[in-house]
Amino acid sequence: MTLAAKKLTASEIRDGLRTQTVGRKIEIHKEVESTNDLARIRGVEGAPDGTLILADSQIAGRGRHGRRWHAPPGSSILASLILRHRLLANQIGLPSIAGATAIAAAIRKLTNLDAAIRWPNDVLIRGKKLSGVLTELEYDQERQPFLVMGFGVNVNTILTEFPQELQASATSLRVETGTAFSRVAVIQSILHRLEEYYLHLKNGEVATLIARANTLSATIGSEVQVQTAFKIIEGKDEGIDQDGGLLIRDEHGCVRKFLVGEVIHTEECRS
Ligand code: BTN
Repeated sequence: MTLAAKKLTASEIRDGLRTQTVGRKIEIHKEVESTNDLARIRGVEGAPDGTLILADSQIAGRGRHGRRWHAPPGSSILASLILRHRLLANQIGLPSIAGATAIAAAIRKLTNLDAAIRWPNDVLIRGKKLSGVLTELEYDQERQPFLVMGFGVNVNTILTEFPQELQASATSLRVETGTAFSRVAVIQSILHRLEEYYLHLKNGEVATLIARANTLSATIGSEVQVQTAFKIIEGKDEGIDQDGGLLIRDEHGCVRKFLVGEVIHTEECRS
């Protein structure tokens, strides 16, 4: 069987996994509506911290801002992680940043590709989207909050398998390297990093996490456009701060902080 078509099994993923929490319990499905939806159900039922839900395909994979997440069956990583950590009110943006940073760091280590993050939740290679993170908050039956961190990573997708309108802006590990990857190896590598950054969050070592995120930023120091609910703001990206907000220096020299929104356009994209 070719690597690109290989089925995922929980025992293979657990083999060689050195985490204490993340991915210690794994559920794998052939097809689900959305792994985030299933993880929410499992979380409400009481699934432990670090439970991972994986699927080969999703009927209704969701992205941020009501967008769809497309992936041909068996080509990608479609995952949702249950995280039982109570965040402070000003920290709601941090899990998505931790997720994107973990994915970028893991991909760099595994493939040597120049993976970078685009605030708040994208992983890019050569300015094209490889991965996105969607974090949602839910409450269990004891009214305890938990997070569902969903992430999609395009592993073995070929360019023509992306929807036409995404073919100029999306990429996969296979598109970038010309070779197929073991999804198991990619998942294990991401889980190792996720545990590292999740521990930073739990232990209050936010500065370490943010420093790593800024090191891996695709846009820091360059001119960007930030899309908010109301308008587009242009300015220089001055980095992510301790709350996970993006700092932008506007044309008047004032630094403005964004806690929600997304970077939609970068200097790099204009060339
Ligand atoms: C984004 O870039 O807008 C976030 C995309 C998140 C997609 C993943 S795929 C697995 C998980 N299940 C979903 O329905 N969405 C996330």
